[in-house]
Amino acid sequence: MIDLKSAEELGRMRAACAAAARVLRDLSALVVPGVTTAGLDQAAKGLMLRHGCESACHGYVVNRLTYPGHICVSVNDEVVHGIGSPARIIREGDLVSLDVVVRREGFIGDNARTVMVGEVDPEHRRLCVDTEKALMAGIGAVRPGGRVGDISAAIQAALTPGGYGIVRDFVGHGVGRKMHEEPQIPNFGKAGTGPKLLSGMALAIEPMVNLGTHKIVMASDGWTARTADGRPSAHFEHTVLVTDDGAEILTLP
Ligand code: MF3
Ligand code: CO
Repeated sequence: MIDLKSAEELGRMRAACAAAARVLRDLSALVVPGVTTAGLDQAAKGLMLRHGCESACHGYVVNRLTYPGHICVSVNDEVVHGIGSPARIIREGDLVSLDVVVRREGFIGDNARTVMVGEVDPEHRRLCVDTEKALMAGIGAVRPGGRVGDISAAIQAALTPGGYGIVRDFVGHGVGRKMHEEPQIPNFGKAGTGPKLLSGMALAIEPMVNLGTHKIVMASDGWTARTADGRPSAHFEHTVLVTDDGAEILTLP
């Protein structure tokens, strides 16, 4: 069953998503050469306090493993779920994917963005620009009466001309009281297929896109996913609401 948010629940969902967007906005400005990914994690913890929310990642359990960070911070060939480390220093030219998932009054807001640090390789810049465009194309395909596959196909179509590797092992998802609700939202697929979209559904749409192969490998920490060929990856995500006439992006600051 895909949850439909009541008007009362929607108020709390909006507040959680706005807080998530403010944290991501403020955190993005702190991504400069010399900071460590652990420093960004600690900064995120403080920003969450300031914006009246808490980390939904901290203490999150998957396969009996407890996530230790407050955000996910994934650099260059790290695709998603990177854990902040005092040994990982950000350099000019890096691609730093920040994934901010917060809880506020029992509801989740989920958003992500890849930040380019200073002057980056033009091909890497293109990867980031096209991944964000693909996210917006996916959001553009959201309408009541449509299907999840419409979103997937729009994302895939936006990325095909660039010859990118679209990550398959992780997908977008419904979101609400829990971080991961039904339905799953793959970043590739066929229009007109999959679960029907209805007004009141909240969806986290999140293309994860690689410059080379779509294949990933898991690090020994059990969380960090990296590209199998070591080439860089980008990740953009918004939480959106299906409305009576389309979609509303909830994770705008
Ligand atoms: N946005 C990520 C996801 O949907 C957040 C994961 S938090 C973690 O998978 F704790 F599970 F890493
Ligand atoms: Co997500």
